[in-house]
Amino acid sequence: DRTAPDTLSILVIGSGLGGLLAAVRAADAGHHVVLVTKSVLPESNTRYAQGGIAAALFRDDSVDAHVLDTLRAGAGLCDPAAVRVLCAEGPARVRDLIRFGVDFDRDESGVARGLEAAHSRSRVVHAGGDATGAAVEAALVATVRRRAAIDVREHTMLVDLLVDDGVVRGGRVLCPHGVQHNIDADAVILATGGAGALFSHTTNPSVATGDGVAAAWRAGASVADLEFYQFHPTALAAPGTPLVSEAVRGEGAVLLGSRGERFMLAEHPDAELAPRDVVARAIARQMERQGGAPVLLDATALGRELLETRFPTITAACRAAGLDWAVAAIPVAPAAHYWMGGVKTDAWARTSLPGLFAVGEVARTGAHGANRLASNSLLEAAVFADRAVRALGEPGRASTSRPADLPHSLSTSTIPGLLPETAPGSSPADLATLVDRRKLQRFLWDFAGVHRSGAGLTSTAASLAECTAPPASSTSVAALEDRNLLDLGRLLVAAALAREESRGAHFRSDFPDTRPDLARSVSQTLELVPAR
Ligand code: SIN
Repeated sequence: DRTAPDTLSILVIGSGLGGLLAAVRAADAGHHVVLVTKSVLPESNTRYAQGGIAAALFRDDSVDAHVLDTLRAGAGLCDPAAVRVLCAEGPARVRDLIRFGVDFDRDESGVARGLEAAHSRSRVVHAGGDATGAAVEAALVATVRRRAAIDVREHTMLVDLLVDDGVVRGGRVLCPHGVQHNIDADAVILATGGAGALFSHTTNPSVATGDGVAAAWRAGASVADLEFYQFHPTALAAPGTPLVSEAVRGEGAVLLGSRGERFMLAEHPDAELAPRDVVARAIARQMERQGGAPVLLDATALGRELLETRFPTITAACRAAGLDWAVAAIPVAPAAHYWMGGVKTDAWARTSLPGLFAVGEVARTGAHGANRLASNSLLEAAVFADRAVRALGEPGRASTSRPADLPHSLSTSTIPGLLPETAPGSSPADLATLVDRRKLQRFLWDFAGVHRSGAGLTSTAASLAECTAPPASSTSVAALEDRNLLDLGRLLVAAALAREESRGAHFRSDFPDTRPDLARSVSQTLELVPAR
């Protein structure tokens, strides 16, 4: 077992489960912690998680069964060692959360559990019905606030990582009053979450702009599997696209086409509980057949009492949209939900750069492969945040140079249209082509979303190449987010073009089959030059 040695200064970036837990653990291990977060402390993707946390906590379950389900959903791309760590250490981390004050729902048999798609057992524990993320976030925010050793800085955004001789030594941040400054640290733990803001339809909050992946990539860290973005099948087709948890289908709700037909029966033996990518694509196809209209989720058979007690968050979202889901089916459609790709880490959350750790959605641990199993995300954040802190102070990766098989700057000539856009000293005329976030989101949704094709991806790459990123010296959060979104949009499209097959969440109409020789990461061999 690992224990942290001497006191270190730790910069934690992000305040979802991964960041909060890492900060608490690091403070409890005696380290000095600065925790920065772009919005207020409780705002993060974690807060909106509904379904719950999957872990082998029950007598009829086992770590092996959880491992098998996770590997199956991951469609051949998981790192089996990372999956084993996730599933084996998950139960202990859930118990930790209980100790930190998360009050998981109970029923007559003890802690209550739900079933979600592609799980062979009911193993998803939840809190507040469908408000699991909010309960986890609240408990950990309260825990952080009780730790005097954690210096919390809200409304503070990561701009770039500070790298000295190949080692990460802190971060440059934008402060609330619009000034940038450096925070030096012995180690940085990135916990900035995903990048749902890349797409025009997402279940993520607006803070999810992939700041950590973009900064890590610009700093030279290896990134991987960026083509794998998970689209949740059922977001409410209403302003804000609120999530309608898979747990609703787990309780028995069914999907209907515009003529009232259960179209999932013809799509997969598990129908509505098929893996998430299968259901999302089937819904997208059904929507095309019915002229783009959303499909319907019929939960009326569950009854008002169950809907309102088990799913209070969704009930409120329906009400806000003028819908009563106890009496009528509700319109739903897919939306960007979770990034399986990210900053490449080892089993101890270490990235390819010494001094840099990544936990939660920002990381690509290999635990999710091509398609994350429902409710494994909070679990992953907890397991690897704990591991990152246990690994603090240990020597980083053996070499301070990038591993030979993960080059960061191959020639861009293999990727037409993805040349660096913002050179220092670029003329003011360049600003005329500053990236338009809505346009970028629309392009990525249309051409790099649920269904992709080489032609669509190529034209998107060309369009993104015409855009200019705001400079790193920008003093507005929106401009720095746009800079990140442009870098990440280009990376995601390049990675999707490189993967000439369909697997998990990545589906290409021009390569509809899965290729056994591509059961490995390919995106890290594609390297672009960051916008400066
Ligand atoms: C859901 O409740 O359907 C989402 C859970 C998850 O994304 O793991």
